[in-house]
Parts: sequence; structure tokens; C-alpha cells
Amino acid sequence: MAMKFYIGSDHAGYDTKEKLQRYLQRKGIETVDLGAHSKERVDYPDFAQKVAKKVAKDKGSFGLLVCGTGIGMSMAANKVKGIRAANPFDSYTAKKAREHNDANIICLGGRSYDARRASSILGAFISAKPGKEKRHKARVAKIMKLEKKQ
Ligand code: RB5
Repeated sequence: MAMKFYIGSDHAGYDTKEKLQRYLQRKGIETVDLGAHSKERVDYPDFAQKVAKKVAKDKGSFGLLVCGTGIGMSMAANKVKGIRAANPFDSYTAKKAREHNDANIICLGGRSYDARRASSILGAFISAKPGKEKRHKARVAKIMKLEKKQ
């Protein structure tokens, strides 16, 4: 199935988000940009919520969120039911986020590293596939049960 990414950022992630959007488009991946649309100061939870809600509703879609570090975006996105947002810091953790955790949103840092490194982390995420092993599926299912228990 063709990949589709809902993307968002705050002011700190804006430049990197623009570059990563072009990176995804060059790979033929559909993107839907939910803002921010400038470097004006905004609050990252607002954009995390917008992207996370779209990803939760659109089965098989993915999200890309960029703030200063990716940390606040991942915290906020993970509050939305159905979301597994990861904040990988290198290509290995990005690959594992999909293979072991079936992450549906990747959160990156506009201030943590340069756009080239951000692209290679994102590249590892899009190339990886969720693991078929039962143990990984069972653990992800346990994560999803946690939100129902609250
Ligand atoms: C904004 O200054 C910064 O706090 C935000 O982009 C992000 O890094 C939060 O996690």
C-alpha cells in the first residue's frame, strides 16, 4: 500500500518539517501538511493533536511531527487513542520503532540534529516494516490495551 504522511511542526521544527516534506515527496509519498505554516511561535500540542487525530482515523496512514527535540510532540501525540508515536534518535531506533513497536507516528527534533540526519532517520523509518513475529505483535497489542484500562 502507498504510504501517506500527515505532517506537522511547531516553530522550532518548521524548517526541518519543510525539508522533510520535500524529502517524502521526492520518494513519491503523499503528504498532508497540517501546519505550522510559518516560524511564528505556536504550541506543539496543538499540532500533535491535529496530526494524531488524522492518523488515528485514516487506517494505514503515518504521521511526522517535528518540534525542537521531538519529545513534546511524542508525549502529546501518544495521548490520542490508536497512536504509537516514537521519538527515535538515529536510524537504528527508527527502524526498530516500526519493526518492534509498529509506530505510526515519527517525531523528530528540529534543534537536536541537522536536516540531513533527520532525513536519514526518517528514511530508516519509511523503509522498515512491522515485524511479523508473534511476540512483537503481542507486545504492541498489550500497549493498545493499556489505553482501554485507564
Ligand atoms: C519550543 O521552544 C520547544 O520547547 C518545543 O519545540 C519542543 O522541543 C518541545 O518538546
